[in-house]
Amino acid sequence: MNIRGVWDKAVSLRDCLAHQRTVTSRRRYAEDEDPFNVKNCFVSDEAKILSSKAFRVLGDRTQVFTFPETPLIRDRKAHTMEVVASATIATEMLGLNTDLARAAALGHDIGHVPFGHIGEEWIARAMGSKKFCHEIMASIIAQKIERKGRGLNLTWHTLDAMLRHSGTMARAEMSQEAWVVRYADKFAYIFHDVNDIVSRMKYPVSRELMDVVNIFGVSQRERTTTAIAGLVVESADCGRVSFESSALARKFMLLRSLMYEIYPRVTQQNVDSMMEPVFEFLSTLNIGNPFLLLALMTDTDVVKIASRKVRGMQAFNLTSVSEIAPHLPAIGKIDLCDPDLEWNSFNPEKEVMR
Ligand SMILES: [Fe+2]
Repeated sequence: MNIRGVWDKAVSLRDCLAHQRTVTSRRRYAEDEDPFNVKNCFVSDEAKILSSKAFRVLGDRTQVFTFPETPLIRDRKAHTMEVVASATIATEMLGLNTDLARAAALGHDIGHVPFGHIGEEWIARAMGSKKFCHEIMASIIAQKIERKGRGLNLTWHTLDAMLRHSGTMARAEMSQEAWVVRYADKFAYIFHDVNDIVSRMKYPVSRELMDVVNIFGVSQRERTTTAIAGLVVESADCGRVSFESSALARKFMLLRSLMYEIYPRVTQQNVDSMMEPVFEFLSTLNIGNPFLLLALMTDTDVVKIASRKVRGMQAFNLTSVSEIAPHLPAIGKIDLCDPDLEWNSFNPEKEVMR
């Protein structure tokens, strides 16, 4: 496959979905602390997410490797910024709203719990609910936890794109920008995880996997560019954002399935010995839902508490979640499996169009 040919074809199709660009959205509450009343509501969303606590702690959450030996291995924040990069370029090429895609990409993983997907599976199992997931937690954190429980008051389109970026949450009606973020997330983690697993951690992988990834190019930049170009070409053909049916898309799906065979071998599997004692400790504090408190912690928070022989409020006060604890009584009960995004279709007097 000639990747330069795919790149050139994508360039010739620039702005092919411009007619489907999302131009505006609405916020849940009319009151908004945006002093400049910016015309582009998604720029305001970006600023809010960038200065949130949830975004700040992403650097202490697992992407694939927990506490990697080299600082060049991606953590959750590094991953997030690569999703932002791909989503920005893809929306720019397609003629879609780059600011909406950037805001949603910045916020898409703020719901991740300590130790990434393995930690998430532990909490879901302990809760006895298959519905618990980081996509829903992202919406909860943005709306109910940030700013002492007042929430960031993001636009509905940014929240919806954050919610639907992975898993079974996608639906045909979501914005084209949300679809771009969903694909950009996959491009980022598949290619950079190959990069980290093979080039940095030197894990042995099959010849088949390397043959498939090299179809997209020989470097991280080439591979990502080829995937974005493939997305643009197929999307122009379908009249909507798509990367499912072309030969390149099928190769990407094969690559994903090969990577999913590797993940269980390289990720932190022994989280029980840390999550269990920390959960038990949080349960004894009586300051809020221990599942919520645990979900909001960083990798370091959990390891620090788990390694203490004596655990008390002093240990808790050193964690990143201690700041939110005093506000939990006022926030009230939160259903950790409900993204609470049904407000877009009602109560218009409380919402504002921008
Ligand atoms: Fe992600």
